[in-house]
Amino acid sequence: MSDLFKVTIDGQTVEVAPGTSILNAARSIGGEIVPPAMCYYSKLKGSGGKCRTCLVEVSKGSEKDPRPMPKLVASCSTPIMDGMEVKNITSPRVLEARKGVVEFLLINHPLDCPVCDQAGECHLQDLSYEHGAARSRYEEERRTYDRIDIGDKIQLHMNRCILCYRCVFTADQITNDRKHGILFRGDKAEISTYIENVIENDFSGNVIDVCPVGALTDKTFRFKSRVWFVKPMNAHRSCTSCSGKVALWMSGDEVYRVTARKDTYGEVEEFICNTCRFDKKKASDWIIEGPRKIERTSVISLNKYEKGVKVEAPKKIGYGNTL
Ligand code: SF4
Ligand code: FES
Repeated sequence: MSDLFKVTIDGQTVEVAPGTSILNAARSIGGEIVPPAMCYYSKLKGSGGKCRTCLVEVSKGSEKDPRPMPKLVASCSTPIMDGMEVKNITSPRVLEARKGVVEFLLINHPLDCPVCDQAGECHLQDLSYEHGAARSRYEEERRTYDRIDIGDKIQLHMNRCILCYRCVFTADQITNDRKHGILFRGDKAEISTYIENVIENDFSGNVIDVCPVGALTDKTFRFKSRVWFVKPMNAHRSCTSCSGKVALWMSGDEVYRVTARKDTYGEVEEFICNTCRFDKKKASDWIIEGPRKIERTSVISLNKYEKGVKVEAPKKIGYGNTL
């Protein structure tokens, strides 16, 4: 008898090890049946369970107990059972709930993509494109914060934070002196550096890469270019702190920024050190391997804005917010 559990997601069956989450089982199948994930990050222990974008419907609990689960469940933190049947894009309930989740995430998130450094590679931008409403119903005032410089290389723009906790887990798990965390609760919760301590650690720059939105940005790249004007190249160098394998974002011979290489789910393949990220900005610092393919369903890989979608004129919705 096989030690693997069989799970069927949107009609596609796969066998995975017991304990695997529904999300990871879906990722092992791949394609459009994979639920979106804004807070789960496979490289970070304890991540997931915060954003609810990965909700799915379990239409059959298991072979032994085929009753469906009454409520939608977070696929990133629900383990599969043998014989389980799951619906993601085939479930109208899931698609409806996901719309609601996106609306919630956008309640406090400013609609400032045109001036946001993350535009073009923002997971929330992609998620809103797929599941968001054309217009916001929100009429209250959004919470706003001043921008904070966390050291000379990273800027925190808390207005855009969706409280996914990824940056906190990153600092906790790959650096040895986490200086920031989430303070307060509910709609008062915010990322804080405890009296704005500088995050100075050789791996601190990775919080920029794991942030799914434009809340943590690279000050050495901010406003230098839009991501769709620079070309990602695989490159490496010999580094004593990290693997030295990075993506260079170049225009001609100029290196505009250095990031970790990301996989199809937007997760870094290997965390990189600050020396590679911030101090090696010359093409001659690197052995350039060649162009890198953007595999994520991102606006910078699919030319989504060229599909001839009719965009309605912006409408004032109160308190100066437009959509
Ligand atoms: S700053 Fe970015 S990574 Fe950190 S909790 Fe907010 S959205 Fe998540
Ligand atoms: S990815 Fe599952 S709750 Fe955020």
